[in-house]
Amino acid sequence: MASRIPLVAGNWKMHKTPAEAGTFTRNLLGNLPADLTVNVVVCPPFTAIPAVALKLAGSWICWGAQNMHWDAEGACTGEVSAPMLQALGCRYVILGHSERRVLSGETDGQIRKKVKAALSYGLRPIFCLGEELETRDAGEAEIYCLHQLADGLEGLPWANPETLIIAYEPIWAIGTGRTARPADAVAVMGLLREKIASWHGRGFAEQVRILYGGSVSPESTGSFLKEEQIDGVLVGGASLKLDSFSAIIRTSAEFKKSTEY
Ligand code: PGA
Repeated sequence: MASRIPLVAGNWKMHKTPAEAGTFTRNLLGNLPADLTVNVVVCPPFTAIPAVALKLAGSWICWGAQNMHWDAEGACTGEVSAPMLQALGCRYVILGHSERRVLSGETDGQIRKKVKAALSYGLRPIFCLGEELETRDAGEAEIYCLHQLADGLEGLPWANPETLIIAYEPIWAIGTGRTARPADAVAVMGLLREKIASWHGRGFAEQVRILYGGSVSPESTGSFLKEEQIDGVLVGGASLKLDSFSAIIRTSAEFKKSTEY
């Protein structure tokens, strides 16, 4: 029987200088046993990636980026490409985060190009989607998220279920201290998994990891991870502090999911 190992990703957003990120990372490694059954990824700002890579090289914790451009190189002032991230040892890249969709006007079409580029360079996208509060209140959260999934991923060359991670992050829960109810997150994620099954088959869909994100704390982690559908968490604010991030990782490690296939 196969299984889905929980994944915890820390999105540091625009926090931590290279020195701060390096120190944090060293302390994180020292704070956790290396034999936990969990995949951990830290996503610092671009400028701190080399400092983090230096501390994590050869360890069990991975690092990634929070965004990238879809072209490999070109006249794109202020942008960073997949081969540049790859050269820094990044294994993952967060794509389609709502802060980029809202603050930088990223479109589904652009995010789709980014996902494709990331996959072609061996980076694992953490593809984010999620609804605004008005959409949920209107009873349209599920349909909205399914559209985002299809617009971003349908028809892409996604050959291996382990190489792409989905993060359901309701926008109203991000940075607000208000989490989704686990049952509501599960309802969305179940439909996302069904849609993926319709594209790639059930065995494939059962191997895909779907994370919850939005005000995750050490206290709420278990209530999400104990749900069969929820394979990990994407953590913003609580990933900036050693104690809270370590606690979230330790709790997540208790919830490996086995699958039928
Ligand atoms: P938060 O951020 O945990 O601070 O709500 C989550 C995210 O934006 O990925």
